[in-house]
Amino acid sequence: MQLISTAREYEGLHRQWPGKSIALVPTMGALHEGHAALIRRARKIADVVVVSIFVNPLQFGPNEDLNRYPRPIEQDMALCQELGVDVVFHPTVETMYPDGLQDVTTVVPPSALTERLCGAHRPGHFIGVATVVLKLFNIIRPTMAVFGEKDAQQLAVIRKMVHDLHLPVEIVAHPTVREEGGLALSSRNRYLQTEAEQQVALTLSAILNRVREKAGSAGSRSAAEVLAEARQEILSTLNGRGALLSIQYLEAVDRETFVPVETLEQGTKILIAAYVGNVRLIDNLDI
Ligand code: PAF
Repeated sequence: MQLISTAREYEGLHRQWPGKSIALVPTMGALHEGHAALIRRARKIADVVVVSIFVNPLQFGPNEDLNRYPRPIEQDMALCQELGVDVVFHPTVETMYPDGLQDVTTVVPPSALTERLCGAHRPGHFIGVATVVLKLFNIIRPTMAVFGEKDAQQLAVIRKMVHDLHLPVEIVAHPTVREEGGLALSSRNRYLQTEAEQQVALTLSAILNRVREKAGSAGSRSAAEVLAEARQEILSTLNGRGALLSIQYLEAVDRETFVPVETLEQGTKILIAAYVGNVRLIDNLDI
């Protein structure tokens, strides 16, 4: 396995692989079993597997966790080695943004995809994501790129960018990996420090599952009504711990277009974002 940090170093490696398929797994590091699943998928479908590890400042808001975002590079390298990764691309901010972050050309995804959900709560986030992913595609030139379905709105934004800009990259989506209790794996889960926070974090997937259970018998009831009912039922089980949870959004949208739906049908995606203490978590489930 090679660890490189510049586009020039990658250029030298890339020349050695004429005709080979390359799968890129873009990450911000702090790798967990969810990332491992993406890397295994990449290993299955391509000749060469490249994992990028880059905590992208452009996708963090001013009051977000950029500085405290975990960066356990040694552990990440060990996992990549174990999973048979060929190249880890671990650039510096200066490599990715040589002219700084203020005066940089960006990719602006259409507002129809970004004005709600995480986009509404994290202004500029998806501009940062789309911009860095395009940069990574241009540097690595992958045949395919593997993304997790947990970041559903991100995946939709990237698919749209690939479509609209005719990027020659196949986007491969991989299902969310969950802990036994249902919690979707995330690098931010390691911020959940107390037993109470860890318990309350299970609320996100519990609400999604309750919505899905109810969807079958919802008939013509509005999605908003069913969502509110499921939310209330699960919150009522939290007892004294409810104060640890602050739900940012719970919404039902069309899985492809991300347009809100009136009723819960097949093809509907339910998405949730919530703070558990000061840790922001997201999750989603298809009906
Ligand atoms: O999902 C992530 O980890 C990041 O948003 C990504 C796609 C690596 C871009 O920085």
